[in-house]
Amino acid sequence: MKYSVLFFFAVFCPSFLGAADNNSIAKQLFEVVSGDLKLSFMVGSDNRLYQLSFGDASKEVTIPAKMPSREWEFFPPYGNGVLTEPALQVTHADGNTSTELFYTGHKTEKLGDGIMQTVISLADPAYPFSVDIYIKCYETTGMMEIWNTIMHGEEGKVTLYRYASASPVIKAKKYMLTQFTGNYKREATLVEEELTAGIKVLDSKLGVRANQMRIPSFLLSLNGKSDENNGEVVAGSLKWAGSFQLAFEVDWNNNLRMLTGINPVGSQYYLERGVVFDTPPVLYAYSKQGKGDISRKFHRWARSYGIRDAWKDRPVLLNNWEATHCTFDEDRLKGLFDGARQIGAELFLLDDGWFGNGPYSRDDDKHGLGDWEVSAKKLPRGLSYIAKEALKRKVGFGIWLEPEMVNPQSELYNKHPEWIITQQKREPILGRHQEILDLTRPEVQQYEWEVIDKTLRPNPDISYVKWDCNRYVTQPGSTYLQPGEQSHLLIDYNRALYRLMDRFAKGFPDVMAMLCAGGSGRIDYGSMQYFHSFWPSDNTDPLGRIKIQWGFSHFFPANTISAHVTRMGKRHLKMAVDVALSGAFGIDLALDKATPEEREQLAAAVKLYKESIRPLVMQGDLYRLVSPYEYPLASLSYVSVDKDRAVVYIYQTEDGNVPKIVLNGLDANKRYRIAEVSLPKGVSSRFVADGSTFTGAKLMAAGIDNPLNKQFESAVLELRAE
Ligand code: DGJ
Repeated sequence: MKYSVLFFFAVFCPSFLGAADNNSIAKQLFEVVSGDLKLSFMVGSDNRLYQLSFGDASKEVTIPAKMPSREWEFFPPYGNGVLTEPALQVTHADGNTSTELFYTGHKTEKLGDGIMQTVISLADPAYPFSVDIYIKCYETTGMMEIWNTIMHGEEGKVTLYRYASASPVIKAKKYMLTQFTGNYKREATLVEEELTAGIKVLDSKLGVRANQMRIPSFLLSLNGKSDENNGEVVAGSLKWAGSFQLAFEVDWNNNLRMLTGINPVGSQYYLERGVVFDTPPVLYAYSKQGKGDISRKFHRWARSYGIRDAWKDRPVLLNNWEATHCTFDEDRLKGLFDGARQIGAELFLLDDGWFGNGPYSRDDDKHGLGDWEVSAKKLPRGLSYIAKEALKRKVGFGIWLEPEMVNPQSELYNKHPEWIITQQKREPILGRHQEILDLTRPEVQQYEWEVIDKTLRPNPDISYVKWDCNRYVTQPGSTYLQPGEQSHLLIDYNRALYRLMDRFAKGFPDVMAMLCAGGSGRIDYGSMQYFHSFWPSDNTDPLGRIKIQWGFSHFFPANTISAHVTRMGKRHLKMAVDVALSGAFGIDLALDKATPEEREQLAAAVKLYKESIRPLVMQGDLYRLVSPYEYPLASLSYVSVDKDRAVVYIYQTEDGNVPKIVLNGLDANKRYRIAEVSLPKGVSSRFVADGSTFTGAKLMAAGIDNPLNKQFESAVLELRAE
């Protein structure tokens, strides 16, 4: 049975509240649409909210002939007839472990240009307990964001055991799930598998720096595998920096429920009457044109709504971590500033090691964290002086901070041993010789703000911050929280963290910021709204970086993916340069020890980036062309929005030739001139296409002949429409 005319109105007027008089099982039908993605609802005659579809907006939705089974309840609560994994599990103040949620209304409002928000209200008919489901549609980018708020008016506390942010159901013949997993130095590795009956859980229980082994984002191909250009795909990404759980349950009728939210393990929340519990939003994208379209949707959304100052060019950085670690002084830094100026870098980022004094001097990672007084030994004239020295050379100045952490070998720890996250009667477990400050404690919140404020406020020449975080939680306990609230720790921590990040971004709107956590141990869109870019990995060996950057590119635009040239892996400088040129470009090597030829090569790369590649990296549309997971090379490109320009990268990850690189995203009717760039001095191009013109149609059908075939060879090609 198809929807009646009555329902037709509901499609275009989401707040329409009519009874579906052609069908006695449905009290109401309504839907929300964001670009290609549609969510259709039915309020059953039993007052429950059922989901009829989640996916293809162009598809007509069928009203079931009989009441849907409880597996199709949109937000299934535990305990009163639901048999699948619940989205919500609660013990009420009187001890009742069951919840029932009835639809009580919904409303849709315009929040801004192209942003519509629908709020659906659900309530338990037997308890003063309610859930509001928020669905925000970013119509121009086709993204949908779902979360909910939980509140009650019961006598006493309600215990929340499970509280997914969203749990839509999908029906397909086959489900192929891709996760982005790994560990330190091999982050965001793609793993794809078919889901079969039962529950597959992808999670993190790390609490802080929670993404070291997995990011809270996934791709789901429906009815079979998808590729970059073909196939039906749903993607999700949770805006939460803490422990998360992505649970995929294929039920006995081969329906798939995707439960996404804060990890409930060890995190039951005792909710007071009248207090609102917010779950973090999940971002969804849907496409019938494969994974490439999904990524471009995420990127466009991020540039419009999800990251700071998307319009601003990310500066070319010279970072000193790989070059000096904590061992430097004013003269060494000034030498590096000189080098930065010579090669055209725009900002010097002073990494770890600039603080701590006396026995707690930060000369290694065992000392000084928490003591944010500038090192009198290394920088006797202070931060302001050293920043000015950089500026004198027309190089901006940025600084590293790790406000959340403390070394036991520090003044701060001696003064406040009770400030750390740890458990009573347990021997503290250190991570990188450090402890995490308990951000649920108001004094710690104030202290961490002061770390930022006292570093930046008196030093207005500091225009960039790298916010690091180098360990995760192993003993979730707080001496601030009450014994009965210990399980709130990881939730309250991350809420306080977002407040701190927000205060930082608002307090220092002109300071750019890189999100870092020992590589990408923290990478989520909840955090990224306060940052300009992130550090994807401490693995800067270009060979490793190719796959790491490839992984992150599925969700994050290239202007957020910091990519630095280092000596790691001792690869050819050209390959290290070419890999870094595809992200927010920087350099992290001892320029004062580089040969004149190397400095010349780096200067040429910086010039190329600033003069022609950067606009494409910052604002272009990404097309992944050849996957390093399937071939001995990786190739990707960025195409300008007007399709007049493009840059193509080719990296040989192994020996072996892929004879043609077939391009994508060009204007079929335009003629493009191809030029190989990033060639070392005196080396000429081996690409026969170099210097010639071709139509977009030809480049997207026949492709470009690729002469590369040896591991570590790489090329960068520029295309300009004539
Ligand atoms: C971990 C980061 O990923 C590195 O880039 C560097 O900043 C070190 N921390 C400093 O301790």
